[in-house]
Amino acid sequence: MNKFLCVPVILFWLFAHVQGAPSQRIVGGYEPPPHYGRFHVSLQNLTGYHVCGGAVVSDRHIITAAHCVNGAEPEYIKAVVGTTNLAVGGHEYDVKSVLIHDDYSAELRKNDIAILEIIGIFDSKHVDILKLYRKELLEGDPLTLSGFGAQEPHGVSSDQMYALNLTVFSQETCRFAMRYNREVFDEMFCTFIQLGQGTCHGDSGSPILKDGQLAGVVSWGIPCAVGFPDVHTRINPYLFWIFEEMGKSNDCYRRQ
Ligand SMILES: *[C@@H]1O[C@H](CO)[C@@H](O)[C@H](O)[C@H]1NC(C)=O
Ligand SMILES: *[C@@H]1O[C@H](CO)[C@@H](O)[C@H](O)[C@H]1NC(C)=O
Repeated sequence: MNKFLCVPVILFWLFAHVQGAPSQRIVGGYEPPPHYGRFHVSLQNLTGYHVCGGAVVSDRHIITAAHCVNGAEPEYIKAVVGTTNLAVGGHEYDVKSVLIHDDYSAELRKNDIAILEIIGIFDSKHVDILKLYRKELLEGDPLTLSGFGAQEPHGVSSDQMYALNLTVFSQETCRFAMRYNREVFDEMFCTFIQLGQGTCHGDSGSPILKDGQLAGVVSWGIPCAVGFPDVHTRINPYLFWIFEEMGKSNDCYRRQ
């Protein structure tokens, strides 16, 4: 990342380019209750175009997918939080730093996790901090995924946030189903209900909750619920990394 510091034009292009890359979005979901808007972040470019989701995990940190922000300079990212409908409300924050996991592989989508730090701190009047789910996710565990992604293939991102209740899918069956696409590593988990319910363009980086806590981040798949599982980054293997890095960037930050 640092080698790009003096070439903002290139970085600007990269972030614009990243937006064009396939990301994921929800199909077949429901409108979530208003409190989802208090921790779910819309990461946008400078003209307010929704690129990816994210989750507020401290008074100044957001967790998202690495592929959402890889190669992007912080000054070209806006974090909007505080609403389940981007057309009516939301509060904008500027981003101070982007930390991609050291072992992130764009090709394998391995360790697809990143931490953003905002400039200043979130206003607790309209933002809530999510706890991290510390236990291991098990097959059949109920989850809720939310996102501002598209409702259909090639559709545009929606201003309205949608949510989907899911369960953790069999790791082995998922590995087999996705074998011609990418390997499903142990640090990933899958969700699948049925054709017509899943993620689509714009859902990448979005939070997946278990018991109201952040358990996963939307990572990859064959977009728009065409009958394949969606694959996500588990939070649990990264707990130590997350706490360590948040502490490094600011040792008096506040979390749940
Ligand atoms: C934001 O993304 C949209 C859609 O890709 C694009 O049209 C617009 O030019 C981008 N704005 C900036 C500042 O990159
Ligand atoms: C989704 O799951 C949440 C949390 O378990 C539950 O409160 C909610 O009623 C469910 N909503 C739908 C539409 O299934």
